[in-house]
Amino acid sequence: MRDVSPGDRGAVAADGRSWRVERFAALASTNDAALDRARGGDPGDLWIVADRQTSGRGRRGRVWVSEAGNLYASALLIDPCEPPRLAELPFVTVVAVRRAIGAAVARGDERVRIKWPNDVLVDGAKVSGILLESTRLPDGRTAVAVGIGINCRSAPVATETPATSLLACGSGIFPERLFDDLRRAFAAALGIWERGLGFGEIRADWLAHAGGIGAPIRVRLVAGEETGVFEAIDPAGRLVLRTVDGERRTISAGDVFFPATAGVE
Ligand code: BTN
Repeated sequence: MRDVSPGDRGAVAADGRSWRVERFAALASTNDAALDRARGGDPGDLWIVADRQTSGRGRRGRVWVSEAGNLYASALLIDPCEPPRLAELPFVTVVAVRRAIGAAVARGDERVRIKWPNDVLVDGAKVSGILLESTRLPDGRTAVAVGIGINCRSAPVATETPATSLLACGSGIFPERLFDDLRRAFAAALGIWERGLGFGEIRADWLAHAGGIGAPIRVRLVAGEETGVFEAIDPAGRLVLRTVDGERRTISAGDVFFPATAGVE
């Protein structure tokens, strides 16, 4: 471990929690480290941050390229809500990530958009991904690692998803500084969410900053794909799609593609 931020010990954030922050030069994956800490008895409200990852993971088993210069962080939460509400956490997280990134780039409110469910795009290219992973602890509690990657200095090339970095978008923000903004934004979003009671406000924030609502999209599902118009997200955060035959379909998991970048997530 590189250091534990002493200033963070016992500091009460906007969500009423006392967060600790542990920083590492390199880890396999900050999500793995966070869940390992939970298995070892950590009470949660812990950020694990690494300068680089040697086995960074993305959604659906994809590799998350994790070179030094970008931000890799996982927040460990223990029993953050009743289990049925866990599906809301990616929305809470992306609202916070969008806010932090929006403050780092010029004209952030226009340029920084959310792609369902929880990617953040700048000028239409992906700059951040979020991966939530959970495990049931022996005492029955649920540990959740909220993993966040943000491309500050570099972005992977030749990805299916067009990717960019904050640097390429005109922001020279360093990961350390961005992390400070991120953890404040995350604490604020958790405070608004209130273990699910405030999901309406989170959903409204999400919708206000979403890309592609009202436009044609293609969604790659676990099996097959569906095209139609992206109508909304429902009260549970599922994507509501009006299909070409006029049917209204709610989708819980999938990859969204905008037509301008057909074939590109
Ligand atoms: C995605 O596929 O869009 C999700 C990417 C999530 C990457 C972050 S980086 C910090 C944390 N540790 C990991 O191994 N993955 C997440």
